[in-house]
Amino acid sequence: MMTASRREFLCFSAGIASTALPWSANVFTVERSPAPAAHGLNQPILLYSNENPYGPSAKVMEEIRSAASASNRYPRLRYRDLTERIAAFHKVAADRILLGCGSTEILRMAACAFLGRGQQLIHASPTFEAIARYARAVESEVLAVPLTASFAHDVERMLAAVTPSTKLVYICNPNNPTASLTPKKDMEALINKLPPTTMVLVDEAYHHYAGFSATYASFLDHPLQDDRVIVARTFSKVYGLAGLRLGYAVGAPKILEPMKRFGTADNINAIATQAAFAALEDSAGVAAAVERNANDRQEFFNHAMARALKPIDSHTNFVMMDTYHPADEIVEQFRKNNILIGRHFPPMDTYIRVSLGLPEEMQAFWKTWDLLPYPKNTMHH
Ligand SMILES: Cc1ncc(COP(=O)(O)O)c(C=O)c1O
Repeated sequence: MMTASRREFLCFSAGIASTALPWSANVFTVERSPAPAAHGLNQPILLYSNENPYGPSAKVMEEIRSAASASNRYPRLRYRDLTERIAAFHKVAADRILLGCGSTEILRMAACAFLGRGQQLIHASPTFEAIARYARAVESEVLAVPLTASFAHDVERMLAAVTPSTKLVYICNPNNPTASLTPKKDMEALINKLPPTTMVLVDEAYHHYAGFSATYASFLDHPLQDDRVIVARTFSKVYGLAGLRLGYAVGAPKILEPMKRFGTADNINAIATQAAFAALEDSAGVAAAVERNANDRQEFFNHAMARALKPIDSHTNFVMMDTYHPADEIVEQFRKNNILIGRHFPPMDTYIRVSLGLPEEMQAFWKTWDLLPYPKNTMHH
């Protein structure tokens, strides 16, 4: 057992470390100030990491339990099998798949392989910032180009910013934190005009929630036949396996090869491997998760509309909305009530990002919202 002071010290130092991880919200501060929760639920409510709050499907859970007994073995023998299974799932050759410890490792491998001093990454602002952090760690320049007024990637401005040193363009679609889409035709126009030496990483972490529309299409389901395009996917979102850490890239073997050199040896684990086989088989489980999310999302919008709020149209399992108050203050108000919502994402200084939780968690969210110490007519326009 830790003593209280030791625990406080750990939390304090973790709190400092968390400032270096801009995309991870205030998890470390929870233990320090366990606030009396107005919602009556004992645990902190986690609406800040865009996880699947329902967890893995029953079939996947069963595999996770049975896989635990193989924990003494490195999962090396199954690395190839899993690679082939994912390849078959996407109807591509196995040498077009690269596994990662979460798609975060894919992003890190891309930054290490394609960036460095004197080279540049271009990404949108705001977007998921992990890759920018790794780019800076390898002393790359990082250029953030604001999203358009409709929260799509501004492909014109991104293109205008490209120089011969631009080695990587990151496109998150649907985009985190805005939950918005960038039209496929815009992305294709961007890719077609990039220099031959510029790679494009399309992060499709939230693919399943986007549904099918004229605007959105996955670069895996509709490949461009362009070797510069790498697509990242994850088991962390719709499959509900964020805690097991498994993601992958799909791309040309000659592009994946330099990335692979930076991968952690034995970067996948035995339980995640077993769970992934089951998750890919369980298409009914995925469909159920997508439908549940669509219902929860609709419910969120109903609550928002009843309060005259206008969230950004969401194509994901989270919602971003303008509160017309400093985001940090709103986040803090929720934290005091033991509800963790997404951090402040500059330059959207008055917006909050809320991951869709279980129905009772969302009730707690709205109950807390209604008790915010601001005049109601200042919370919307
Ligand atoms: C857009 C995006 N990409 C990648 C990740 C990383 O996910 P993981 O490393 O769990 O696959 C996240 C996590 O929130 C994300 O939002």
